[in-house]
Amino acid sequence: MDWDKLGFQVIPTDFMYIMKSNEEGTFSNGDLVPFGTVQIEPHSTVLNYGQGLFEGMKAYRRADGEVQIFRPEQNAMRMQMGAERLLMVAPSVEQYVDAVKQVVHANKRWVPPHGKGALYIRPLLFGSGSVMGIAPAPHCTFLIYTNPISNAYKGRHTNSTLSLLIEDTLPRAFPGGTGGVKNIGNYAPVFQVTKEAKAKGFFDVLFLDAEEHKYIEEVSSCNVFMVKGDVISTSPTLGTILPGITRNSIIQLARDLGYQAEERKFSVDEFLEADEVFCTGTAVGISAVGSATYKNTRVEFKTGADTVTQKLFDMITGIHTGLLEDNNGWMVKI
Ligand code: COI
Repeated sequence: MDWDKLGFQVIPTDFMYIMKSNEEGTFSNGDLVPFGTVQIEPHSTVLNYGQGLFEGMKAYRRADGEVQIFRPEQNAMRMQMGAERLLMVAPSVEQYVDAVKQVVHANKRWVPPHGKGALYIRPLLFGSGSVMGIAPAPHCTFLIYTNPISNAYKGRHTNSTLSLLIEDTLPRAFPGGTGGVKNIGNYAPVFQVTKEAKAKGFFDVLFLDAEEHKYIEEVSSCNVFMVKGDVISTSPTLGTILPGITRNSIIQLARDLGYQAEERKFSVDEFLEADEVFCTGTAVGISAVGSATYKNTRVEFKTGADTVTQKLFDMITGIHTGLLEDNNGWMVKI
């Protein structure tokens, strides 16, 4: 493996974990199996009606060689929230965390060396039982696979050329919809807009609210923050914003560093006056945004060494990789 060439591409690892819900509608007896294809019934609700959720997590290698994962119980709880919304049975937090530990342990040789990336962990929960009408599946499957990655926005952590196009007509999520849970159906609808933006030279798309097309919501696959002076703001999780675990951790770390961190609605006009902008997510980590373009007007933001983004990046990356003390007890060793 040439770890320096790692990006965000498909690299199958040795094992995956699979667990099916039983007749009583609960999960038990999951197994590690060799990585491979899964059989799925044509009538399954995931294929027909999109009854499915996914999660994203990372395992990091510390300088001492040990492997650790970040706040896995938070992802377990978020999956339970999503399962409630889509009427699926979910694994318990203990089952989820235990399964994640098992699959990371089995694929340990795929955790990149310290500082070279992470082993991305992708838990899925989907309706694998068959129905014909519009109804939840009689049984669900919980599956976890892993894939080594560097970063979805490789090379764009803090000294950034990341350019966002602010999409002013098509929203990502709408009130009463599923934008606030990690529903698989939230992602394919952004493919087209993102592809068009990339063809115009942008790196990603930032979506506005569905009602007034005025308030900042989130980027296609991550949350977004703005920094103005000592105040760090991000949109509130009121149903259309994904409650990101990195988002939540950054709010806490920013407060620990003495910044005022707030969750509130803010307009695109206010956003364009920010000093700094950064994205957060498991896949993207913390990535500084260099510019945003709204209705053909391009605005640049401060990036580089002397930024709030850099301080937060250093802090969370230090915790992830064991270079800084984990005062919050966020890291779980494998
Ligand atoms: C993650 O950050 O883990 C995500 O779920 C984003 C993914 C769509 C790449």
